[in-house]
Amino acid sequence: MPQQVPAFSVISGGQVQRALAGQEKPVTELIEAAYKVHGAGDTVNPPSYFLRFPDRPTSRIIALPASIGGGVGVDGIKWISSFPENVAAGLPRASAVLILNDQATGYPFACLESSIISATRTAASAVLAADWFTRQRGRPPRIGFIGTGLIARYIHTYFAGTGWSFDEVGVHDLSAEHASGFRDYLERSGESGRISVHDNAEALIRASDIVVFATVAATPHVTDPAWFAHNPLVLNVSLRDVSPEIVLASTNVVDDVEHCLKANTSPHLAEQLVGNRDFLHGTLDDVMAGRVELPADRPLVFSPFGLGVLDLAVGAHVYEQLRSAGELTVVDDFFHELRRYG
Ligand SMILES: NC(=O)c1ccc[n+]([C@@H]2O[C@H](COP(=O)([O-])OP(=O)(O)OC[C@H]3O[C@@H](n4cnc5c(N)ncnc54)[C@H](O)[C@@H]3O)[C@@H](O)[C@H]2O)c1
Repeated sequence: MPQQVPAFSVISGGQVQRALAGQEKPVTELIEAAYKVHGAGDTVNPPSYFLRFPDRPTSRIIALPASIGGGVGVDGIKWISSFPENVAAGLPRASAVLILNDQATGYPFACLESSIISATRTAASAVLAADWFTRQRGRPPRIGFIGTGLIARYIHTYFAGTGWSFDEVGVHDLSAEHASGFRDYLERSGESGRISVHDNAEALIRASDIVVFATVAATPHVTDPAWFAHNPLVLNVSLRDVSPEIVLASTNVVDDVEHCLKANTSPHLAEQLVGNRDFLHGTLDDVMAGRVELPADRPLVFSPFGLGVLDLAVGAHVYEQLRSAGELTVVDDFFHELRRYG
């Protein structure tokens, strides 16, 4: 029987945002399920491809091809640009599309605006990890954000939307304007904790039980393990802020070992320094499955490289919501040359 070619839909950022609004809990559960599918080996997630430009060294576009089984059953690719200079021009740093491919025919069936999907899955993953890592220790009362752009905002939204509350929220950014913009966002969001803006990373780290790194630092700027003597949980979302010495003095959990030990992330620098991976404790899936214990007497660093399968899981969820609501914008005749001999 000939297969039917799927209709091709274009899904705007507005549609994505409306589909995900207020869904912090179900989306975090969906991310948990996707990690479990990945841990069970029912995904294909090759290394991300980094397109870099000799004349624009700070910019990059990353391709994240992936395939996820489980109950999702979709292939696809996220194509995400990072142009840090955009921020000074008043534009978000990252822009992205996500293509979903039909597993029966290979045909792409949707193109989704994906900066929101990417920020959403990143935030959900960080908050999921924080939830699992604090189940034994109890939820800590003080959080601090180093780097206060869009990703920090989404992470805070996901903490608040999944039932976390804090006594204190620390804020630090190299740009006073960005720190103040984030503070305004926190106040508008109804954050009930006391908000403190710190003018240096050390003060923020020493005052935080959860430290969120969401900067655009390319090389470590936090190098003193003594700042972490109170054994905080570090959500190392921007991946390159802390020195290998801090990594080596901590318990380390990653999303995927092969992915994370690449591209000069802090764990990758640690591996280059000592020549082995013994400092890695395991993956988030290992923690969720109870395969590893997390000692409370060291800092705990979670380094999520960011897996394409997570984007697919969230993208498929958005697509399904719009499809079932009859709100897909189909591009008629997108696939046109469908008869082999005309
Ligand atoms: N691991 C993942 O899965 C994942 C996914 C998405 C984004 N990210 C990363 O998250 C980071 C933040 O993304 P964004 O969109 O919010 O970026 P952004 O440009 O909007 O914000 C970054 C902020 O960090 C600040 N900053 C830069 N260097 C700093 C430093 N040394 N100390 C303190 N503040 C500093 C900047 O002033 C800016 O306000 C990026 O590095 C991005 O690659 C990771």
